[in-house]
Amino acid sequence: MSPTHERWTPHFHLAPRQGWLNDPNGLCQFHGTYHVFYQSAPAWPAPGKKGWGHFASRDLVRWEDLGEPLVPSIPEDADGVYSGSALVVTGGAQDGGDLLRLYYTGNVKYEGDHIHNGRDSNQVMVTSDDGVSLSEKKVLLRPKDYPSDLTRHVRDPKVWEQDGRYYMVLGARRSDDVGDVLLYESSDAVEWAYRGRIESTHSFGYMWECPNVIQVDGHDYLVVCPQGLPSEPTRWQNLYQAGYFPLPQGILATTQVDETSFVELDWGFDFYAPQVFEDEKGRCILIGWMGMPDADYTSAPDGLAWCHCLTVPREVTVGEDGLLRQWPVTEIDGLRGFAQPVSPSAGAILPHHYADIELLGIEGNLEMGFDGQLQLSFSAEDGLLRMAFTDEKAASGRTERVLPLAALHELRVLVDGSTVEVYVNHGEEVLSTRWFPTADTLLVTLHATCESARSWEMGGEPPRALRRFRHVAPGA
Ligand code: FRU
Repeated sequence: MSPTHERWTPHFHLAPRQGWLNDPNGLCQFHGTYHVFYQSAPAWPAPGKKGWGHFASRDLVRWEDLGEPLVPSIPEDADGVYSGSALVVTGGAQDGGDLLRLYYTGNVKYEGDHIHNGRDSNQVMVTSDDGVSLSEKKVLLRPKDYPSDLTRHVRDPKVWEQDGRYYMVLGARRSDDVGDVLLYESSDAVEWAYRGRIESTHSFGYMWECPNVIQVDGHDYLVVCPQGLPSEPTRWQNLYQAGYFPLPQGILATTQVDETSFVELDWGFDFYAPQVFEDEKGRCILIGWMGMPDADYTSAPDGLAWCHCLTVPREVTVGEDGLLRQWPVTEIDGLRGFAQPVSPSAGAILPHHYADIELLGIEGNLEMGFDGQLQLSFSAEDGLLRMAFTDEKAASGRTERVLPLAALHELRVLVDGSTVEVYVNHGEEVLSTRWFPTADTLLVTLHATCESARSWEMGGEPPRALRRFRHVAPGA
C-alpha cells in the first residue's frame, strides 16, 4: 500500500511541494505563459508570514514551480504579502514592450485588536517585463486613502482595464460590520482615485473578501466572498461563501446589489477565494482555492509536508439564464489515458485515485459512491443533490452538502489524489471537495439510469509521471 501522503498528492491540481497554500493570486497569461501565483507559507506547519508562491505553464497542465518571489520586505507589508491580482498592459513598458503589473495588499499588524485599530492594509504594486523578475515595490494606497467608516480590513485588489481606463475593486469591512466593495479609478494603473462603493441593499455578511469582476459575453458579474452568513440547510453551508452578483447595469453603473441575487459558485466543502482572468484565446478562466479558511484538515497530522491545493482551471461561460457555467479547460481532456466502462448498475474498480468519470443522459435518481467513504445522491422527488461523507476517517469532520437541483442529466467527476471536483449538468453547478481516501484502488459504486458511463485514467501509467513540478528553492 502506498504511503498516504503519496496517495493524497494531486497530480493535476496545483499544490505546493512544501508548506501552506491558500488563495490563487495574480492569475494571467503574459507572452503566452500562464502564471498562477498563490498565498504561500512554505515553513508551514511552523508559523510564517504569507508571501506569493509562483507556478508557470505554457499549457495549463505542465507547471513549473518558481518558488516564492514575493515576500514581506517593506514596512508596508511587514506582516504579509496578501492576496491580489495581475494586469497585463500591452506596450506598457518604458521601451514599448508589454508590462505585467501585480497588485497585492501589504498587511501590517500592531498590538491589539486586528479589526479596528491593530492593523494597516496598504495596496502595493510590483511590475515585471518577463513575468519572473519583479521590480521594487511601490505603495499605491494607504489607510488615509480609504473611506473613514471602515475597519482596518481593506484588501485583495482586483484590477482591470475597461474602455481605456483602469479600475480596482477592494474588499472591505465597515465599522458597523457590513461587508462591501470599494471602487477606484485610474488613467495609468498607478495613481488611483476613490470612485465609490458597491454595497448590498441589506447587510450580507460582515466582510467581503477577494472581490473579482467577471466580464463575459457582454455581461458583468461581481464575485465576492462574504463572511458571516448564517448557515442554512440548502445555502451558506460552508463557514464562508464564494459567489457572485449578476450586474445587469454593468460594474461601473452599479452602486447597490440585491443580496437575494447572490449565486454560490460552488457547493462543495472546499472552495474559496476564486479569481478569474482572460487568456490570450479570449477565454475567461477561473481558479479557486480548494480549501476553507479556519478549517482543520486531515493532511496535517499525517505528516504531509503540504496543505491545500487549487481547483483545475475552469472556463467560465454564460448560460441562457444569464447565470455562469464552469467547465474544466479543454487542456485537462488531454490528460485522459486508458478509458474504462463504468456499469450503471454496479460501478467499477479503478486502479488509483486519478480519474475523470463521465455520466451522460442520466434519468431520475442516482446513487454514486467513492470507496464507501464519499457519496453523491440525487433524488428527483426531493429535487436535491447531496454530497455526503459516509466514513468519518475520510471526512475530516465534514458531513453533508445539499444542492437544490431540478433535474440531473450529466455528471463529470474529476478525482485527483485527495481532491474531487463534481461538475453537474455540464457545469451548471460544481462541488469541490478534499477527501482523504484510505485505499489504493478507487471503488466507484453506481446505481443510475444513464445513456453512457465511463472513466478515463488521468495521465496514463504510471500516474506518478504526472509530477511535473520542477522545484526551485525560494530565493534561488
Ligand atoms: C482569503 C484571505 C484574503 C487575504 C488572504 C491572506 O482567504 O483572507 O482576504 O488577502 O486570505 O492569506
